[in-house]
Amino acid sequence: MKPVELKNGIYWVGAVDWAIRDFHGYETPHGTSYNNYLIDDEEPTLLDAVHHNFVDISIENISKIIDLKKIKHIVINHIENDHATGLEKILEMVPSANIYMTDRGKKGLNRFLDLSKYKVIVVKSGDTLKIGKRTLQFIETPMMHWPDSMFTYIKEDRVLISQDAFGQHIATVERFDDEFVNNRSMEELEDAVIDYYANILMPYGNVIKGKIEEIKMLGIEIEMIAPDHGVIWRSHIDEILYLYSEMVDAKAKLKAVIIYDTMWHSTEQMVFPIARGIENEGVPVKIIKLRATPKSVAVKEVWKSRGVIVGCPTLNNGVFPSVAEFLSYLKGLKPKNRLFAAFGSYGWSGEAVKEMYETAKAMKLEVFEPGIRVLYKPSEEDLAKCYEFGIAFGKALKEYHAKI
Ligand code: FEO
Repeated sequence: MKPVELKNGIYWVGAVDWAIRDFHGYETPHGTSYNNYLIDDEEPTLLDAVHHNFVDISIENISKIIDLKKIKHIVINHIENDHATGLEKILEMVPSANIYMTDRGKKGLNRFLDLSKYKVIVVKSGDTLKIGKRTLQFIETPMMHWPDSMFTYIKEDRVLISQDAFGQHIATVERFDDEFVNNRSMEELEDAVIDYYANILMPYGNVIKGKIEEIKMLGIEIEMIAPDHGVIWRSHIDEILYLYSEMVDAKAKLKAVIIYDTMWHSTEQMVFPIARGIENEGVPVKIIKLRATPKSVAVKEVWKSRGVIVGCPTLNNGVFPSVAEFLSYLKGLKPKNRLFAAFGSYGWSGEAVKEMYETAKAMKLEVFEPGIRVLYKPSEEDLAKCYEFGIAFGKALKEYHAKI
């Protein structure tokens, strides 16, 4: 990909990773991009440094605009590996550049790279840097989503460099939201935003909410939001801010998702009458078999759905491994405001359903109890009970949704 001009003198100089499918354990079926930005002002400034495997592409892009050795300032908004491990190679070429980051950023990055050889300037919220015609304003965003994180606002152009926030894990030829929407759809873009938020930012909803409020109170006008992954927002600013305001409040639609795995199809047979029962209550249902679906997709559906039902057989006195892994992943993301239920088949002891409820309670989810268990293989009578269970869950879900 070539560099792309965002506004006069401000360029995307990043790289697209078409092949990545496992992003530190989070499945990325659509790849991603590592965005960084160059401001060609009197004192050329680079914002973020991409993953080290892609830094040569970024260097090539920068070199198409300016002699890289002329870079005067480098801002590191976030030190996670995908945005900062390329810095070492860039610094080999411009060792005298001033590096700007938060105090926690400096402490953290020092664990990966000996910063004592370089000129590091610690910044905090409100600090500014004049680079010629433009002024950069720094806004700390701790735990959005790492302690070091910050935004950089290019005042004169009203561009917010937002590191991970407002990003999406999608590899595209389109660099801007309107291009993506024209070529594909807003629905697909929103789906990518929700997927990203659910899997990366979900635990930090309150922090993000507070930070968005703070930005509003600072009177910061935004004409463009340039995240470090995915497309840049220039045409749907209101839409992305609205979507974030919904997500930080853990809003969800009145619908249910059934997430399950199965050994010999007994648990699987239970899924369909449960789903029919819920649907008969007028609640849409999505069914996800875990071993056939990335767990990141299952998490996204949890995010979209008010009701979450998880099913699995008992294996070795516990929860079936793929479901146990999923629940562990989900627990770390701290979902809120969801009604949870569990079901499953068993051969002799049948602890899985009880354990799944314990995990849901540890997550502080609302639970619909008791769950439903079936010995070995569901009989016609069992399947009828599953249907009734689905009806009862559908009714409870509607009540819960109405009061939350
Ligand atoms: Fe895209 Fe938190 O790194």
